[in-house]
Amino acid sequence: MVFIQSQFITGHGAPWIEVEELLKSERNFQVSQRKWAPREKHFKNPMGDQKLMEDGTSRFTCKGKPIYHFMGTSTFSQYTVVSDVNLAKLDDDANLERVCLLGCAFSTGYGAVINNAKVTPGSTCAIFGLGGVGLSAVMGCKASGASRIIVIDINSEKFTKAKALGATDCLNPKDLDKPIQEVIIEMTNGGVDFAFECVGGAKIMRAALDSVTVGWGVCTIIGVNVGDNGLNVSAMELLMGRTLTGTCFGGWKGVTSVPKLAADYKNKKLDLDALVSHTLPFDKVNEAFDLMYQGKSIRTVLLF
Ligand SMILES: NC(=O)c1ccc[n+]([C@@H]2O[C@H](COP(=O)([O-])OP(=O)(O)OC[C@H]3O[C@@H](n4cnc5c(N)ncnc54)[C@H](O)[C@@H]3O)[C@@H](O)[C@H]2O)c1
Repeated sequence: MVFIQSQFITGHGAPWIEVEELLKSERNFQVSQRKWAPREKHFKNPMGDQKLMEDGTSRFTCKGKPIYHFMGTSTFSQYTVVSDVNLAKLDDDANLERVCLLGCAFSTGYGAVINNAKVTPGSTCAIFGLGGVGLSAVMGCKASGASRIIVIDINSEKFTKAKALGATDCLNPKDLDKPIQEVIIEMTNGGVDFAFECVGGAKIMRAALDSVTVGWGVCTIIGVNVGDNGLNVSAMELLMGRTLTGTCFGGWKGVTSVPKLAADYKNKKLDLDALVSHTLPFDKVNEAFDLMYQGKSIRTVLLF
């Protein structure tokens, strides 16, 4: 197959109304069953970025040439083909305009805290980046009983919502005259117990790792490393008792965990509403991207 260079149908994290055709599945799905939430990566799937189906082919073409899938879902499309490992079954009364957030942002940030780092009551936490992922991490730290939740963002407009969700201290690196990690170490008399990097890029990953205390501090990398040389870590840094870890989708197993998270939202145990800043019709998808790039939105729900 000759693919159109780097072109793919984007979108992940969406609930669908209907499964139209079922080719083959060992799971108990039925055609026309309503409301499914596909999610990204499933650990059974060997295709890490899931640009193609398991058989190495694409189901999309543009002008006669194949184009890639995205994260195994390609949800910015009225019709898509997904592997059944990327589908989770939801109750008929699931709120489609909210459970879509379980496909990525909420599950990742909240799960990083609960499943990966396992934040403990009374602990101190630092969260770098207050997008959908970072704000979900704030919610996870609050739910875990953290005593101090320090949030860091270069966009101070994000602080109002972060405080409402449980942040205790807000720092904008642009307002500081020394590196953010030095400020956090001073504020906490040695560093936080847990740090969550929810931005991406080596510089911020380094700041997050430096911010955790020696002895027992845990730094969880969530952001994607794009366009730099990555994080260099010396053995001595780990030998001093810090743990460096990361998360993929918050450590949840999508097929089984997403329905439970959806039930928790329905039972008002989780707040997905806080992450939705805008709702737009699908034909305004480019406006939604602009809002995101301008830092004006947390998450925009697109309605088909
Ligand atoms: N590990 C996973 O499974 C997983 C899943 C989803 C998203 N991600 C990654 O998590 C990261 C966050 O996702 P998101 O959707 O919340 O992103 P987002 O763009 O909505 O939010 C990023 C936030 O970081 C802030 N920011 C940017 N540069 C900063 C800096 N130098 N210091 C402090 N704050 C800064 C921005 O102002 C923004 O509020 C992305 O890199 C994304 O690719 C990873």
